[in-house]
Amino acid sequence: MDVREAVMTRRSVRGFLDTPVSRHTLEQVLEVACRAPSGGNLQPWRLYALTGNALDQLKDSTAARLAAGSPPDEPEYTIYPPELTAPYRDRRFHCGEQLYSAIGVPREDKQGRRRQFARNFQLFGAPVGLFCYIDRQMGAAQWADLGMYLQNVMLLLTAEGLASCPQEAWSLHHRTVAEIVKPPQELMLFCGMAIGYEDPAHPANNLHTERAPLAEVATFQGWDD
Ligand SMILES: Cc1cc2nc3c(=O)[nH]c(=O)nc-3n(C[C@H](O)[C@H](O)[C@H](O)COP(=O)(O)O)c2cc1C
Repeated sequence: MDVREAVMTRRSVRGFLDTPVSRHTLEQVLEVACRAPSGGNLQPWRLYALTGNALDQLKDSTAARLAAGSPPDEPEYTIYPPELTAPYRDRRFHCGEQLYSAIGVPREDKQGRRRQFARNFQLFGAPVGLFCYIDRQMGAAQWADLGMYLQNVMLLLTAEGLASCPQEAWSLHHRTVAEIVKPPQELMLFCGMAIGYEDPAHPANNLHTERAPLAEVATFQGWDD
């Protein structure tokens, strides 16, 4: 598979088979992904991969918290700006609408939406959860480096026939994740990632998210001089 095909076929998958993922494959992917560039070559990513009992424990603890109606942990970073403006607000809204329409949950079905959101914490049935941390001393530039690393991971997984869904939702339960992975104090959880083989029959996977036209996001200068 070439890079273009990997980029074009990667998408966020929210329904997985329980087929295990080999440790060897995952190690190879995470290692090759380390070729991602980073300012000053800081390589500010720190990963924890869970499967089997470790992942079951995490799912059970989070499910117990949700069932008890416990509030999310106090956030360590803000996922979206509180006053998101257009066009970002509209894109976010549209993205949610597309997902809920794919799984047949109408707009007014708040329970259905909550249920879909809670599926994040079962990793949508994926057999592997990858948790990506960053040192608290890092700033915006290093957070961008994390994105490059994680995109490498997702493209390499695609090339291996594996699917993924990055999940900021896990930052809402960073303490529960920390109870299992026991990261050092200086690390902060950025996101989780569900990894496994796609369940092609799952309705949540009938989703092809759109992108803004190039003219909205890129400007070209100097070509027509
Ligand atoms: C950093 C990051 C965090 C995300 N967090 C979540 C999440 O918590 N739950 C979820 O269902 N999707 C999550 N997504 C997936 C986005 O909704 C998805 O990337 C976007 O809608 C574009 O769709 P695509 O990935 O299928 O192309 C996240 C994506 C990124 C890059």
